[in-house]
Amino acid sequence: MDAQKSLKLLAEADLIHSEESIQLALNEVAKQIREQLADKNPLVLCVMTGGVIFCGQLLPKLDFPLDFDYLHATRYGPDTQGGKISWRMAPWISVKGRTVLVIDDILDEGITLAAVKDSLLHLGAAEVLLATFADKLNGKLKPISADFCGLTVPDRFVFGYGMDVDGAWRNLPAIYAVKECA
Ligand code: IMP
Ligand code: MG
Repeated sequence: MDAQKSLKLLAEADLIHSEESIQLALNEVAKQIREQLADKNPLVLCVMTGGVIFCGQLLPKLDFPLDFDYLHATRYGPDTQGGKISWRMAPWISVKGRTVLVIDDILDEGITLAAVKDSLLHLGAAEVLLATFADKLNGKLKPISADFCGLTVPDRFVFGYGMDVDGAWRNLPAIYAVKECA
């Protein structure tokens, strides 16, 4: 997206969660993960690209032994409509017999993470836990739920804190929703 368009989009957007509330939620998620996984030497997998900010801020708060790798699966093309899952990169470190913690930005319909979890179990993971920073309140029955979740967001297209709108604004420390057309 060109810079002018990105700035206009942000200027018109609604703030959903401030940086401060995100950091509070992040500490809470880190605490819950520590309580459940501190003695499991988990393999932590970041789902690229959306999971990168949540994961990057979460990892230093997980003060126990773990391995880290990433995977890239996405169901969104350049637009904001749902689409097919595309696998761009599988984890390099073996998941066999491991407790795996998958970190992603948002649980929307849950289709992406359900597919990711299935594949990791097929690859021999002992257990797969999911941490998503946001859970979208879309009223739909999701095929999967997050084991760890930071905050909920309304059923709107949101961006910031790893989530993009047309490629823009993953870098924002807060979460915004795209202005709704009247
Ligand atoms: P799901 O399969 O519907 O759960 O899709 C989840 C993925 O879609 C997330 O990991 C995001 O990359 C993307 N996504 C879903 N909703 C939004 C949104 O409101 N803003 C930005 N990305 C979103
Ligand atoms: Mg994603």
